[in-house]
Amino acid sequence: MSPAPRPARIETAYVREPGYAERYRDARFRTGSGPRTDRRERRAITKLLRACAVDDGPWLDVPCGAGRLSDLLPGPVVQVDRDPAMVRAVERTDTTKICASAHALPFADATFAGALCMRLLQHIPNGDERVRVLSELRRVTRGPIVMSFFHAASFQHARRVVSRRLRRKPVSGRSAVTLRRFFAELQRAGLEPVRCAPLLPFLSDQWVVLARPRHD
Ligand SMILES: C[S@@+](CC[C@H](N)C(=O)[O-])C[C@H]1O[C@@H](n2cnc3c(N)ncnc32)[C@H](O)[C@@H]1O
Repeated sequence: MSPAPRPARIETAYVREPGYAERYRDARFRTGSGPRTDRRERRAITKLLRACAVDDGPWLDVPCGAGRLSDLLPGPVVQVDRDPAMVRAVERTDTTKICASAHALPFADATFAGALCMRLLQHIPNGDERVRVLSELRRVTRGPIVMSFFHAASFQHARRVVSRRLRRKPVSGRSAVTLRRFFAELQRAGLEPVRCAPLLPFLSDQWVVLARPRHD
């Protein structure tokens, strides 16, 4: 009997309208409440990076989007995003840019000294798929990984759930999980949490987490 065919790799789509990449670069974090959010995220990431020992070598920024946060990384940076328009929107010229999926990173094991994965996991509603992305980050990274996820026990997430129920807003595809569940997903991916913090205590759904590969 021939072996059962392997299931097709499922990846949550992230479809945006034409011109989105340039708007994300030029407006999303430069207008309205964007600059405040950007400052908070940068502060939170910097604090986590200071808390970890880092060896020399390249750092991975995936998804890099338009490259907003790559300058925080302490080493030569490889920027990866699945959307070619986002990769093209990156303005920095001193980085390596690659169009690829975080679900199947085109790098050898332990290539990177560390990795940053901001604002991706909340767009992936399925736990197994999140674990696949986390496992890929773990595979290609030998040091710290800083990432974000949306925490379900937060004012912002509660507001989103109520808005969805009342249909006041178009349904947002963002998914939130509890910290306990997120830590279980890290564990399944071979990672252990080192530190975590919300961007704004009790209010913010966005949490940043520093994790490192487990060696057991
Ligand atoms: C909200 S943006 C975040 C970009 C950047 N990290 C930041 O914080 O500015 C999400 C990005 O994820 C990218 N993306 C979505 N799914 C992806 C995947 N499976 N692999 C790589 N990039 C992905 C999108 O193209 C988009 O650029």
